[in-house]
Amino acid sequence: MLWKKIGRNEPCWCGSGRKYKTCHEAMDERVNLAAMQGAIIPTRKMIKTPEQIEKIKESCLINIAVLDAIEKEIHEGMNTAQIDKMVYDITTDMGGIPAPLNYEGFPYSVCTSVNDQVCHGFPSEKVILQSGDIINVDCSTIKNGYFSDSSRMFCIGDVDPEWKKLVQVTKECVELGLEQVKPWGYLGDMGQAVFDHAAENGYSVVRDIGGHGVGLEFHEDPFVSYCTKRGTDMLLVPGMMFTIEPMVNMGDPDVFVDEENDWEVYTDDGSPSAQWEIQVLVTETGHEVLCW
Ligand code: MF3
Ligand code: CO
Repeated sequence: MLWKKIGRNEPCWCGSGRKYKTCHEAMDERVNLAAMQGAIIPTRKMIKTPEQIEKIKESCLINIAVLDAIEKEIHEGMNTAQIDKMVYDITTDMGGIPAPLNYEGFPYSVCTSVNDQVCHGFPSEKVILQSGDIINVDCSTIKNGYFSDSSRMFCIGDVDPEWKKLVQVTKECVELGLEQVKPWGYLGDMGQAVFDHAAENGYSVVRDIGGHGVGLEFHEDPFVSYCTKRGTDMLLVPGMMFTIEPMVNMGDPDVFVDEENDWEVYTDDGSPSAQWEIQVLVTETGHEVLCW
């Protein structure tokens, strides 16, 4: 569906208070032209206003602070319930709410996914970090109703060089994907960059779970896949905001969900999996990373 135009002298739909003709009119025309040429275009709802972006950035600051604190503290012998407690305490001390807590029944403040756990791992006193483990800590914050979402990997003690490489290459996948994020490009430019770098290193990318729009809600459209091709998928427009969070497996891409809790995701073949997640804004000139 095309973006509905409004009178040139009317106040812009974005809420800037400026006249449409000096605000979003040119952008709307460009989006509609792309749509008429066959592109998948975002909805206007996906375009964040400057005011919303400022609010979301406050949320992101908490997310970054929490992950920075975990990065300092995480160590061999620690259990992942301690990480959960740290996330809860720091987030709430800073005036935020951990977004995962009670999200669709998720019972913790953070996801901690170790080794062959792909994502949505439950923090637990029974999961004690051992030398050689790789762990993803996935944090999300609500501040004044605005959402942030990012995750990092940590290598505990003495990690097998092959596993370290998986962690490193997965980070590079995110960086290479990010380089492709610019207005009037395509989400598939990012997706293919991620996919190709994983594949070149002999790894696979999880297909069923991906990134997402974020900001006004925890998970918004679009779904962000890494199995897309350059020049395809959604047109990137200034004001769009989404996560890049590929899950990269050393072995096969297939995963399964733990039937006992319907949350924790593991690789089918038991091979290790890594993930990094950033929250990115499409700007007029390129992109801005809001949290990592
Ligand atoms: N932070 C996860 C993501 O990247 C969200 C997981 S849903 C939760 O999208 F409930 F497990 F937190
Ligand atoms: Co996410």
